[in-house]
Amino acid sequence: MSERTAVYPGSFDPIHNGHLDLIERCRPMYDRLVIAVLRNEAKRALFSVDERLEIIRELVGERQGCAVEVESFSGLLVDFMDEVGARIVVRGLRAVTDFEVEFQMAMMNRRLNPRVETVFMAPKEEYNYLSSSLVKEVFSLGGDLTGLVPDPVLARLRRHLEPHASKAGRRAE
Ligand code: PNS
Repeated sequence: MSERTAVYPGSFDPIHNGHLDLIERCRPMYDRLVIAVLRNEAKRALFSVDERLEIIRELVGERQGCAVEVESFSGLLVDFMDEVGARIVVRGLRAVTDFEVEFQMAMMNRRLNPRVETVFMAPKEEYNYLSSSLVKEVFSLGGDLTGLVPDPVLARLRRHLEPHASKAGRRAE
């Protein structure tokens, strides 16, 4: 088992610049980073898991240094960590409001597997308020997402949400 494999889990529906910033911050810290997209049938998502994997793979590509892999998982995160030989979970902390739920998850994961450690990282300040749900909401209401999501995400948001976005625009006229 590599000591320097970390898993960055999440829904990534869709991935935004805050997530990408965190991935870049991880690169010098670990030998291998596994971005783990949760397969959650119970949660209604805009993008299919396969589409999310495709987008993330397109964005994280080949770079020197830390090897970045993109996988999906279902079931317990700690079981997935065993499968990929990792004991470090990376999670972003944007504001104090994130803390409670993140702390709960970290403690539960530690309870399920005491070898698992959670590392909290702060994204660049300008992404402190950014979330995937806000990205979808702002886009569907015609707001400007420049600098907040990468182009491939913007293109796919157009494909998925533009008909609704223009309807919303018409309603507001
Ligand atoms: O991006 P999100 O939605 O905040 O990510 C949440 C995620 C995927 C990290 C979390 O829901 C998770 O780890 N789910 C897997 C199920 C699990 O292991 N639950 C028990 C420990 S909290």
